[in-house]
Amino acid sequence: MLFPVSSLLLLAIAGSASAATPGRDRSSLNADWRFSRFTSNPDSLSYNTLRSWILPQANDFLVDGAKHTAPSGTAPGSNVAYVQANFNDAGWQSLDLPHDWAIAGPWNAPGISGGMGRLPTNGVGWYRKNLTATASDVDGTKSIFLDFDGAMSYAAVWLNGNLVGGWPYGYASFRLDLTPYLKEGNNILAVRLDNAVENSRWYPGAGIYRNVWLVKVDKTHVAQYGTQITTPSVSSSSATVNVVVQVENLGNATRQVDVTTDIYEIDQSTNTVASGAAAVASIKPTTISVGAGKKQAVNGSTAVANPRLWGPPPAQTPNLYVAVTTLSATGANGTKTVIDTYETRFGIRSIAYDPSKGLLVNGQHVYVQGVCNHLDQGAIGTAFNFRATQRQLQTLQEMGANALRTSHNPPAPELLDLADTMGFLVLDEAFDCWSSGKVTNDYHLLYSDWHEADLRAFIRRDRNHPSVIAWSIGNEVSEQSSSQGGSLGQQLQNIAHSEDPTRQCTTAMNAAGPTAALPGVIDIIGLNYEGETGAYGSFHSRFPNKMIWGTETASCISSRGTYLFPVTSANSAVYSTSGGADGTHHYLSAYELFTPGWGSSPDGVFAGQDRYPFVAGEFVWTGFDYIGEPTPYGGSGGARSSYFGIVDLAGFRKDRFYLYQARWRPDLPSAHILPHWTWPDRVGQTTPVHVFSAADEVELFVNGASAGRLKRPNASTYRFRWDSVKYAPGSLRAVAYKDGKQWAVDERRTAGDAAALNVTVDRAAIAGDGKDLAYVSVAVVDANGTVVPRASNEVTFSVSGPGQLVATDNGDPTDYTAFPSAARKAFSGLAMGIVRAQKGQTGQVTVTAKADGLAQGQVTITLN
Ligand SMILES: *[C@@H]1O[C@H](CO)[C@@H](O)[C@H](O)[C@H]1NC(C)=O
Ligand SMILES: *[C@@H]1O[C@H](CO)[C@@H](O)[C@H](O)[C@H]1NC(C)=O
Ligand SMILES: *[C@@H]1O[C@H](CO)[C@@H](O)[C@H](O)[C@H]1NC(C)=O
Ligand SMILES: *[C@@H]1O[C@H](CO)[C@@H](O)[C@H](O)[C@H]1NC(C)=O
Ligand SMILES: *[C@@H]1O[C@H](CO)[C@@H](O)[C@H](O)[C@H]1NC(C)=O
Ligand SMILES: *[C@@H]1O[C@H](CO)[C@@H](O)[C@H](O)[C@H]1NC(C)=O
Ligand SMILES: *[C@@H]1O[C@H](CO)[C@@H](O)[C@H](O)[C@H]1NC(C)=O
Repeated sequence: MLFPVSSLLLLAIAGSASAATPGRDRSSLNADWRFSRFTSNPDSLSYNTLRSWILPQANDFLVDGAKHTAPSGTAPGSNVAYVQANFNDAGWQSLDLPHDWAIAGPWNAPGISGGMGRLPTNGVGWYRKNLTATASDVDGTKSIFLDFDGAMSYAAVWLNGNLVGGWPYGYASFRLDLTPYLKEGNNILAVRLDNAVENSRWYPGAGIYRNVWLVKVDKTHVAQYGTQITTPSVSSSSATVNVVVQVENLGNATRQVDVTTDIYEIDQSTNTVASGAAAVASIKPTTISVGAGKKQAVNGSTAVANPRLWGPPPAQTPNLYVAVTTLSATGANGTKTVIDTYETRFGIRSIAYDPSKGLLVNGQHVYVQGVCNHLDQGAIGTAFNFRATQRQLQTLQEMGANALRTSHNPPAPELLDLADTMGFLVLDEAFDCWSSGKVTNDYHLLYSDWHEADLRAFIRRDRNHPSVIAWSIGNEVSEQSSSQGGSLGQQLQNIAHSEDPTRQCTTAMNAAGPTAALPGVIDIIGLNYEGETGAYGSFHSRFPNKMIWGTETASCISSRGTYLFPVTSANSAVYSTSGGADGTHHYLSAYELFTPGWGSSPDGVFAGQDRYPFVAGEFVWTGFDYIGEPTPYGGSGGARSSYFGIVDLAGFRKDRFYLYQARWRPDLPSAHILPHWTWPDRVGQTTPVHVFSAADEVELFVNGASAGRLKRPNASTYRFRWDSVKYAPGSLRAVAYKDGKQWAVDERRTAGDAAALNVTVDRAAIAGDGKDLAYVSVAVVDANGTVVPRASNEVTFSVSGPGQLVATDNGDPTDYTAFPSAARKAFSGLAMGIVRAQKGQTGQVTVTAKADGLAQGQVTITLN
């Protein structure tokens, strides 16, 4: 059965709001919710009272474990006011999802540690929504599903007063079947979330923080995560594509269906199937009979000639395909019609894990140049935003990163869509702990009941993404050095292999030695920091047949633009108040040399990796700063966000960005001078100047006089240092040479007094869809347009036209101004405003930045 390709177009757009294809209607359910948060339990429910009714939700994902049956009788909660249609929710907050209830503050929430970011994540949150069903939605032929991409946490959901189900792990995606309780006309949906204090080691956010979808399909349909696509043989002339389709029949009679899959190319420039494009391969119809209440798999295989392979840039191209699976059945009138259409994006590629070379993608060695990131998107928190995520990935790609570790939990599905289209390699991580916890209320409370379902659901959701190159089954788990680490690791890895025989597993170990049980069972040795202390060699000699990578490296800590003196002469040092740290103001030196005790500067990591060329690469801790874990200032009165990022929380690049860029994009002409050169209090004092570059030689000029032309000390070093420069106002100029020829130049100039605000925007045009974001950067500049590097003027943002200011930030981990505030002090001369268009608007939005005594600046953004 063929239908016009144009009907495919919508679904093929990653992140698109909604789409209908023949037989299937998937629409966003993000709009028009009401919300209330309670700091003490308002309803006397708890996960423990609901647990027996929620556990059966796991059944689809239990193979090893026993299936659950709900107790008979009415489930708890039906008498709670908030689930009733007649409850007056007029006093509750109106909002659209995704929503992070804690991000607006206030800071220093009672009971929430610095590690968790000091924001009010805890408490019970209730969400309500009116849901209209048509007569045909409830005519008995359809299944109506509610799909949550993620809800933080312990979700329980009622429809018209009936408990439908829930899912406790806040990072999991899950599906609920609304069909039994849906009625024509208005329905009331109520969602209860419950976050304990001390349930995380970082800022987990709170609320329905990812997208929610309503899916309407025939009772016989492709099951949830119901396709599995593998490419067991790949060459430039041909690829085998195997497609397993799980058909689910939730009707009450056996159904006979034809299952067909057609494969189309996705056009890279538009990220959709080109209009009128023909299928490049097809799997002929298979007819199956699916019993009432049963699932049945159909295995098909086809060959794609001259496949356009998926691989990471710059050497390869992230080409994608979409498999369009249709189910057809004979209807009451005797005609065969399409009853479901299901699209699966995938890539054709091979991966191999070579113990001596590292990762091979399509047979080519790809050095893993990765970063770890937590889930928050800075000042907008954890509420998933496509543009915020895309911007982070674009920044990382510009730096030369080709890999991401989703530390320490399953990501938003759209992050993987972006990774697929941009060509990132993803180490997709399931858990931060197993049965032994790290904080009082973390996942160890759920491990025994939920680990199998959580892991299987996660892998089924993500396994068709070509970007996913390996599964991480745990991060620094407490069991890593014990015999239990071996047995739990083996169980989890077996689960992963059974759901996905094509990928290896790793686990991030920071303490286990080579003789521990866990490294013995895990496919890929993942070392957090241990590599820096020489462990790569001892693991490699014990496990010559396993690939090894640095699952966490560096942990360099710094405050953007803040340089502290004296500067160590070492290439890596532990911070202290006599070097690298200003314990009074909670700043860390931006010379990018300082770390906590376990870490190493980037320079030290590069040297360690180059000493062990079998290492597949690294995932730096971290790409972006994140809320929480403000090491070393996590204690009372300390900071609110981390110092680990290569990029700060507002998205401004620290100097370190250019150090990684020099290593990871060595062919890009580069020279980056630090520090800034405006030190009226340091005239005549030693003020070391460093230059980050991949050049062979760099010459530094201080006020026009050469301070020396230095050769690059060795191939692992991208830092040129002139440590005895005495400060005098004026200018610094670095001239970098490659093969004896001038290759790159950088300059720093002493700034005068602050005179004006210089305003720029990341994109001149954004979509007027109520979601897209413009990032408006403000620099405090002198009369010549030079950034005043220590300016901290308070900047006030205002927006005119059909837009609104969502949040502001400056990248300072010690700034306790609430994120939604329109007034924001500059930090090291810079401030950021995040602006969104109003939904359904066109025209122009003007953003103005003002500060006392300075000329204002503004920028205009076009909505399209
Ligand atoms: C549902 O509709 C009723 C009646 O219009 C309204 O009072 C209530 O606020 C609505 N609730 C939500 C969550 O939108
Ligand atoms: C089976 O489902 C159909 C609607 O799909 C309904 O009309 C019929 O009554 C059901 N039969 C039984 C035995 O439940
Ligand atoms: C079909 O694929 C599934 C999943 O990969 C596999 O378990 C099963 O053995 C396959 N069946 C056949 C007949 O190939
Ligand atoms: C048969 O019914 C289906 C819907 O079930 C409809 O789409 C199709 O047009 C009908 N065919 C004829 C010939 O009436
Ligand atoms: C490379 O040079 C740096 C900086 O001088 C030094 O610290 C490091 O030990 C050198 N590495 C090797 C392998 O010589
Ligand atoms: C601006 O630049 C001019 C020319 O280089 C210089 O003379 C002047 O001092 C600069 N002004 C400031 C405020 O730095
Ligand atoms: C000032 O703004 C202009 C664009 O309006 C931009 O090109 C320039 O880089 C900005 N300067 C600074 C120091 O931000």
